[in-house]
Amino acid sequence: MIKDTYVLGIETSCDETAVAIIKNGTEIVTNIVSSQIESHKRFGGVVPEIASRHHVEQVTFVLEEALEQAEMTMEEIDCIAVTEGPGLVGALLIGVNAAKALAFAHNKPLVGVHHIAGHIYANRLVKEMKFPLLSLVVSGGHTELVLMKEHGSSFEVIGETRDDAAGEAYDKVARTLNLPYPGGPHIDRLAHEGEPTLDLPRAWLEEGSYDFSFSGLKSAVINTLHNAKQKGKTIYPQDLAASFQASVIDVLVTKTVRAVKEYNVEQLLLAGGVAANKGLRAALEEAFKELDTELVIPPLSLCTDNAAMIAAAGTILFEQGKRGDMAMNAHPGLDIENF
Ligand code: KG4
Ligand code: ZN
Repeated sequence: MIKDTYVLGIETSCDETAVAIIKNGTEIVTNIVSSQIESHKRFGGVVPEIASRHHVEQVTFVLEEALEQAEMTMEEIDCIAVTEGPGLVGALLIGVNAAKALAFAHNKPLVGVHHIAGHIYANRLVKEMKFPLLSLVVSGGHTELVLMKEHGSSFEVIGETRDDAAGEAYDKVARTLNLPYPGGPHIDRLAHEGEPTLDLPRAWLEEGSYDFSFSGLKSAVINTLHNAKQKGKTIYPQDLAASFQASVIDVLVTKTVRAVKEYNVEQLLLAGGVAANKGLRAALEEAFKELDTELVIPPLSLCTDNAAMIAAAGTILFEQGKRGDMAMNAHPGLDIENF
């Protein structure tokens, strides 16, 4: 009989303290996420010092809860996977140190995982991956199209944002509309109540480019509001949200479809916090009706930061023989093509 593999994942790169246990890389045994959003809300964004303090306070509890819920002990865990970057350095360090302490105390192998690799591997908890594949990664810190030809660290970035990430643009536009942090879900909700009547720019960039740019769009939203105010005109936030969202989705979906055709991939995996966006999910589903490529979209709980995705990516790396040691450090700017 082949023994099952249990990987325990730890994620603390930003504002969620998360621990999960995954069986054989594909099955969630337990997935605990302790969010700090309430603590950061009044500052309108994540405050790094507050994030680190929360992680210190939470990580042991979340770990105990995960083991308790799974009815498992550390002895039954085969490997510990932890996000080593990118992210906030102080926040990452709490997870890395917790993982090293556990690995040392229980004599278990340790594997470092790239946060975005984790977001991509969240999809393996939904569907087995088929290569070559493309992943559209849209989070608070990243917007990129990633090509994978096989399992593991084989990530080729074919396009990325030149300025703001999609989630960052959502959060900044939300702040302009006085909506709470994180703004993405609020804009998403408002957008469904309005009409995309305002003419906002789409940054296509050079012909053939798979890169993105959202800072011009963000400025256009701010200018539109500002000009309307000066002229005493009313702009409905619902229509502004709908117009902004239409612009973001138009560029994301058009470039993704073009890349899927050019690279002739088996699957398109949607990944990252903005993958929770209802408009984006619906637009991709519509566009992929016409294509032979399979579209995989994780459930909302696996789109935003969690440790199940870290354990899922960690399982593959563990099986491929990747190992970290007690010298493992946090890498706030870790590059997905070289990790
Ligand atoms: O992946 P994630 O949880 O954290 C990072 O790794 O950055 O992504 C967080 C981002 C935030 O910018 C948040 O506003 C955005 O995801 N987000 C959304 C939605 N839900 C979360 N953006 C648009 N629509 C949503 N429904
Ligand atoms: Zn993330």
